[in-house]
Amino acid sequence: MLKGKKIVLGVTGSIAAYKSALLVRLLVKEGAEVQVVMTPAAKEFITPLTMATLSGRPVLCDFFDTNSGNWHSHVELGLWGDAMIIAPATAATLGKMANGVADNLLVTTYLSMKAPVFIAPAMDLDMYSHPSTQRNIDILRGYGNNMIEPASGELASHLCGKGRMEEPENIVARIKDFFFSGRLLTGKKVLITAGPTYEKIDPVRFIGNYSSGKMGFAIAQECASQGADVTLVAGPVSIATPHPSIKRINVESAQQMYNTATEAFPQCDTAILCAAVADYRPSSVAEKKIKRTGEGMTIELEANPDIAASLGKIKRDDQRLVGFALETNDGENNAREKLAKKNLDFIVLNSLTDKGAGFAVDTNKVTIIDKEGETRYPLKSKSEVARDIVKHLSKLLLVLLFILLPVSLDAQELNAVVNLNTSKIQGTNTEVFESLKDALSEFINNRKWTTYNYEDYERVSCNFTFIVDEYSDAGEFSVTLMVQSTRPVYGSSYNSPLFMYEDKVRFNYQSHDRLEFNEDNLDNNLTAVIAFYAYLILGLDMDAMGEMGGSDLLTKAQNIANNAQNLSDTGWRAGSGNSNRFSIIDDYMNGALEPIRQLMYRYHRLGLDTMYKNADAGRKVITETFALLNEAYANRPLAYFTKLFTEYKQDEFVNIYFKKGTSEEKQSVVKILSEINPSLSTSWDKILKDR
Ligand code: PMT
Repeated sequence: MLKGKKIVLGVTGSIAAYKSALLVRLLVKEGAEVQVVMTPAAKEFITPLTMATLSGRPVLCDFFDTNSGNWHSHVELGLWGDAMIIAPATAATLGKMANGVADNLLVTTYLSMKAPVFIAPAMDLDMYSHPSTQRNIDILRGYGNNMIEPASGELASHLCGKGRMEEPENIVARIKDFFFSGRLLTGKKVLITAGPTYEKIDPVRFIGNYSSGKMGFAIAQECASQGADVTLVAGPVSIATPHPSIKRINVESAQQMYNTATEAFPQCDTAILCAAVADYRPSSVAEKKIKRTGEGMTIELEANPDIAASLGKIKRDDQRLVGFALETNDGENNAREKLAKKNLDFIVLNSLTDKGAGFAVDTNKVTIIDKEGETRYPLKSKSEVARDIVKHLSKLLLVLLFILLPVSLDAQELNAVVNLNTSKIQGTNTEVFESLKDALSEFINNRKWTTYNYEDYERVSCNFTFIVDEYSDAGEFSVTLMVQSTRPVYGSSYNSPLFMYEDKVRFNYQSHDRLEFNEDNLDNNLTAVIAFYAYLILGLDMDAMGEMGGSDLLTKAQNIANNAQNLSDTGWRAGSGNSNRFSIIDDYMNGALEPIRQLMYRYHRLGLDTMYKNADAGRKVITETFALLNEAYANRPLAYFTKLFTEYKQDEFVNIYFKKGTSEEKQSVVKILSEINPSLSTSWDKILKDR
């Protein structure tokens, strides 16, 4: 996919330099030509020989080749590369890049680079969060560089926190994304409001709010990086905007912001209204400082214009309008009301009750709501939130452009590998097997199974392995199907098992048949079975994404199981006792197993996803979820799903508790596991006997 792309990879002196070896390998594997440039300090961490061997090119470290005396031209490198990646980028190199301190070949190459630059910082958490590092990052971002934020996790210092260089696979994905999708807003004109407004009371006092402008400025930065011409109408804030494509207009009051925004909007394709605008202003402004009288005083207020609603009224069909909703209670309802009332295309809800979200902080947790539905995002840095908003916007603008074209814009939810094993029936028609495998892969991967917007990184990986037990030339198949899936643990490169099951399926398939699925008319056992597992897997994942998220998908799976009784295959209700397909979902949806549904959410979303940022806190949540497992087991001891859960999570449980956690934690967990699934005692013993 990166075939023919020329990439300059800058490596600096960090313990994470070992990861850049893998990065070179992955880039080369994708077909890229990689030229490695190392700082002198980087050579202390990884040898140029390793990097030269992997990239197939001599590594450049010095201004001159000490043997031949040849000059290594950073200018030529700057013209040669289609992209430059600096990974890992230390605090020292970030500082040099931000301030033009050109004392090594890597920095001179950076300063000469004509192509886009991607920077993946790596350092200890305190260094990363230090204001000087953050300022340098802001400056570099402002120059239009693409930051690849470090992940959270255990660092070389054994401390836990943000600073770990992003995994090479994810860096390659970002690069591919860049080359593949191009810039999302090229040629677009975007109006952005940001920051607070100040409403004067007298020459020294005002009514204001806590907005720092960080969210709106991050959006302006992202839009500019994605190729837009930005007009940023900024309330009184102290943030710089060095990006050349951002035209900044400073205002103070809501009325000034209104005047500027309404004048600019007709020339724009889109407006994103992130400012915290005062709804009221003092009816009159005292000319002189109001003196203290010792008595109480009343300030009469009058309504300010609503900028969003006014732009909503003059919005043309070819324009898009995005608003924010800052709520303290009943967020979704209030946001939906504002969406409709202000004629917005979508609204970004953030709540002051979410820790780390809203005013002044560097992070935010948002839900994007439009007429179609809503997408919840986890807590992220404001620049990452800005990326999500811009991605959402770009889809709308694209839909606007190609309104009649059937473009599928969201990532499909499932990322499935289909395996077809025919070793049991050698010597028969191979064409039909090839055709079946392709049809299955297309059926599972190219279908949008939900109305939710999945990001690429949220895709659920799964394996559908079909072992063909019997096949007749009439196209009758009898297969053993093994379904296995994992969900990504956010902020880590780890995947957590969601579901594993073995099944027997009978169906008919002829070469070149396309696989079609109609929920109301199940006449194909194969597609019904696949759809059943797809909804089951995604339902479990959506439960992991939000407390109510997956219920509707699990209901779909349950409906398929209910309606599929007349299909040729009897596996829907057959099988030993509780282990047929019908029972799996029935158990899960049954009220008695409601604790399992809650468990899936708490275990994954609150437990595992936290664990990779803060191991002890995450493990504590996970330990608490075992009470829910126990409750489900007590309600219905024979339920197959409970047992299945302990089976497919056994390795993960061992990983979580082996040599970690307190002995009380281990004992409480093992007591429950041993009762539910005594046959796995070897694993449970491992948890206990680890010291
Ligand atoms: O600046 P930060 O410190 O980074 O904080 C970011 C933020 C919390 C300010 C931002 O994320 C945010 O939520 N901005 C909107 C705050 C707000 O005023 O929300 P609201 O629900 O009151 O307003 C709804 C929408 O109408 C907003 O798009 C607002 O810009 C717009 N509005 C409101 C009143 C008004 N008179 N004119 C408007 O255009």
